[in-house]
Amino acid sequence: MLVRVDFNVPRSGDRILDDTRIREALPTLSSLSDAGARSVLISHAGRPKGRVVEEISLRPVAGSLAQLVGREVGFGTDCVGERATSTVREVPDGGLCLLENLRFHSGEEANDTDFAAALARHADLYVNDAFGCCHRAHASIVGVAPGMESAVAGSLLEKEIEAFDRLLSSEERPFVTILGGAKIKGKIDTIDHLLTRIDSLLIGGSMANTFLAAQGHNLGASKLAAEEIEVAHSILRRAREAGVDIALPTDLVVTDRLERGDGPSRSIETVTPDRVPSASLAVDIGPRTVARFADILQQARVVFWNGPPGVFEVEPFDSGSRMLARAVAEAKAYTVVGGGETVAVANLARVADRIDHVSTGGGASLALVAGKPLPGVVALEDAA
Ligand code: 3PG
Repeated sequence: MLVRVDFNVPRSGDRILDDTRIREALPTLSSLSDAGARSVLISHAGRPKGRVVEEISLRPVAGSLAQLVGREVGFGTDCVGERATSTVREVPDGGLCLLENLRFHSGEEANDTDFAAALARHADLYVNDAFGCCHRAHASIVGVAPGMESAVAGSLLEKEIEAFDRLLSSEERPFVTILGGAKIKGKIDTIDHLLTRIDSLLIGGSMANTFLAAQGHNLGASKLAAEEIEVAHSILRRAREAGVDIALPTDLVVTDRLERGDGPSRSIETVTPDRVPSASLAVDIGPRTVARFADILQQARVVFWNGPPGVFEVEPFDSGSRMLARAVAEAKAYTVVGGGETVAVANLARVADRIDHVSTGGGASLALVAGKPLPGVVALEDAA
């Protein structure tokens, strides 16, 4: 059984910082194991662009997986060729192995036919359980299925698709979306599609800075995408036409320095967007904004959240993100949270278990919410 998983997990050297994606693959792996199948797991990690980059080898991930499943996990130092096949041969019935990073070969991202065929030779049956990668038309996602006896979705992929179907087909109102993070560009299609179906869009993070700049505010030294100000203008206009309420921060936590470091103590203050000192940068939403967002969320019946509203990795600028996570968890709504950073915030605030669906996909969830078909899902349908 060839199983495509998404083990592209955050790590620091060999240490796995968040094993959510590995744990989420366990139901599929244990049902395969119970059925006596020999599972050959394939995944990418990082963006090495066809080169071998030791720092993003999947070997530590195999170790972490072995701990989680409580049994030996073979590791193949390549995903194709003799080094892979010798590892695959060793897998006992009901056992599993993980092969090295697919993206060490340029054929993966190029969806090269020979590379896909070399992967397909590892097994007769294919399971795609890599929701987080289904928006990528890469060899292991779309190229392998046609060459296999059978190609099916794993239980994680099924669970993710069902959750997004429920989110996007819900008739309940109000439907509130929260977007954060940096770039608007990668999210334009998502915003466009959302404007036809949501009631409120809450915006935070440096993306909000770009919108505030479009409204004429001078954000000092804040991170913003000057080249996207025009895009922000047009989104604000289209939201007005569509009757969607866009809520931007009304107060911001600003600092002259993100990290503590040596030297004079850093200044931290909460200001309105028209009062950002020229040397300061916005790093979080302020308490008034949190309260306003929480009010809107209290009325919501459907919520989708992608992107944190502040620099949650650096204390005390995690405060707005944590409070927003709590407000989402408390909403009497169907709640879906997607994207690695947003999931990290939900974990940090210890509310992940009170969110209806915590998605393992960032880009994949944005593509779905943009109304785009996922190539990985289409490939399975075509192969059926
Ligand atoms: C993700 O982390 O969103 C998926 O693993 C896809 O990774 P990619 O954006 O590098 O294709």
